[in-house]
Amino acid sequence: MCDNAAMASLEKDVPLGGAANAAPLALNFCGLSFASPIVLLSGCVGFGEEYTRIEGFSNRDAGAVVLKGTTGAPRLGNPPHRVYETPAGMLNAIGLQNPGVDHVVRVVLPQLDFTETRFIANVSGSTIEEYVEVTRRFDASPIDAIEINISCPNVKEGGVAFGNYPDMSAQVVAACRRVTKKPLITKLSPNQTDIRENARRCIEAGTDALAVINTIMGMAIDVEERRPVIGNVQGGLSGPAIKPIALLKVHQVYEVAGPHRIPIVGQGGITTARDALEFIIAGATAVGIGTALFYDPLVCRRINEGIAAYLSAQGVANVTELVGTLRTTKDVADCALSG
Ligand SMILES: Cc1cc2nc3c(=O)[nH]c(=O)nc-3n(C[C@H](O)[C@H](O)[C@H](O)COP(=O)(O)O)c2cc1C
Repeated sequence: MCDNAAMASLEKDVPLGGAANAAPLALNFCGLSFASPIVLLSGCVGFGEEYTRIEGFSNRDAGAVVLKGTTGAPRLGNPPHRVYETPAGMLNAIGLQNPGVDHVVRVVLPQLDFTETRFIANVSGSTIEEYVEVTRRFDASPIDAIEINISCPNVKEGGVAFGNYPDMSAQVVAACRRVTKKPLITKLSPNQTDIRENARRCIEAGTDALAVINTIMGMAIDVEERRPVIGNVQGGLSGPAIKPIALLKVHQVYEVAGPHRIPIVGQGGITTARDALEFIIAGATAVGIGTALFYDPLVCRRINEGIAAYLSAQGVANVTELVGTLRTTKDVADCALSG
């Protein structure tokens, strides 16, 4: 695990995730070497194999790939419809369908090629004990890092119920921290009042990194039937529609995480290199791509090329030098009013 305090003193003048003289897109994320700041997001790439059948797609274009959310026992997920396209985004309520941690560790992980990229597990649970048990199983596996999803809007218990309350979030993080030395990433919910307070508590509880943000709750109605379109009634909204919200959340969380040298995986609606650069400038060390893959499975290559071109044009040697370089004198708290 990255020892937060030690990192802070050692790396005071080094950019967050920085490695001197590395290739322009390469970076160090909690001790893991990423070839690119791109992270393929949980739920959008199955268990790492989903897109590898598509010509031209390669996991090597991503710094890391996050596997589908995994629970203690297998889950069938929610009734249909589970996904629905909306203007500039999509609603999903998959309900954490997965074969259970035992199957993932014994059957899925041995099939992954760990020379391609870094693979990150995504852990969910209905109780703290379940989070701990799944984390413990992944700790004893070849997985490179563990992301705990305390922000899933699509399951009745656990998930977002933990993530909405800083006390509960901290308890889940602390409990998982005790059973793994692998890098621990905590995925925060945007569906809460003060994401900064939650981030602060998760850092105190020992998380090594933060993923910001998960989907935002929404719904759609079939007016002919006068029924919700989504079987679960509500679902998580993702894609370009949520980008401005996600960007602000990253900006807010960076205020708290930056001084502790805690890296952020910024995500929510990124589809272009320019989007990715916005998140990096706001404070993200890595950038997540999820829904964009549904539109264009080869989007990563285009984003990598666009970031590299920007770095070259700006005379910046490595992408980590851009992290949190937003030029503003305003404190986020001073900007609360709009309209
Ligand atoms: C179909 C689908 C399934 C998802 N499943 C998970 C999941 O199992 N665990 C999780 O932490 N996030 C899950 N997410 C959230 C994404 O990982 C990501 O945080 C979110 O979609 C925002 O990024 P995007 O706008 O680039 O898609 C899912 C998203 C989608 C669209």
